[in-house]
Amino acid sequence: MNTITINGQTIELTDSDSNNDSDKPLLWFVRENLELTGTKFGCGVGMCGACTVHVDGYPTRSCITPVSSVLGKSITTIEGLSEDNDHPLQQAWVEHQVPQCGYCQSGQIMTAAALLENNPTPSDEDINNAMNVICRCGTHQRIRKGIKAASEALIASSD
Ligand code: FES
Ligand code: FES
Repeated sequence: MNTITINGQTIELTDSDSNNDSDKPLLWFVRENLELTGTKFGCGVGMCGACTVHVDGYPTRSCITPVSSVLGKSITTIEGLSEDNDHPLQQAWVEHQVPQCGYCQSGQIMTAAALLENNPTPSDEDINNAMNVICRCGTHQRIRKGIKAASEALIASSD
């Protein structure tokens, strides 16, 4: 039986002819099968980043990632990023009122979380290079401020 692990829960996939989960993009598996709707559909072709989740810790565009390519891997969606929405990024996002319409923001936060995991003190250039998620509302300055605030919180908590 094929399985994937999403937010710590191991899920067995259906493999019948009429409903072959492995053929689906991961985005639609989490949104439709699991009703985890925090991951958004934007462009559907890997360009905008609204659908970003982590696959074994790497930010991954779920709209172009077939479930068959992540069998046995560990996926984290925005719903699984923290226990109580208390990831330093989520707290900074609230404190700095980062979102406007909010549509791109789970993709922004998941991308930023992977950045801070690998680089807890990113420079402006590091942030610009990593944050390749489109925000049609133009919140990029506040996103940068939120990442810097989360970085400072992470460093303070590790002292
Ligand atoms: S919806 Fe996946 S990159 Fe745009
Ligand atoms: S907050 Fe509206 S698209 Fe980013």
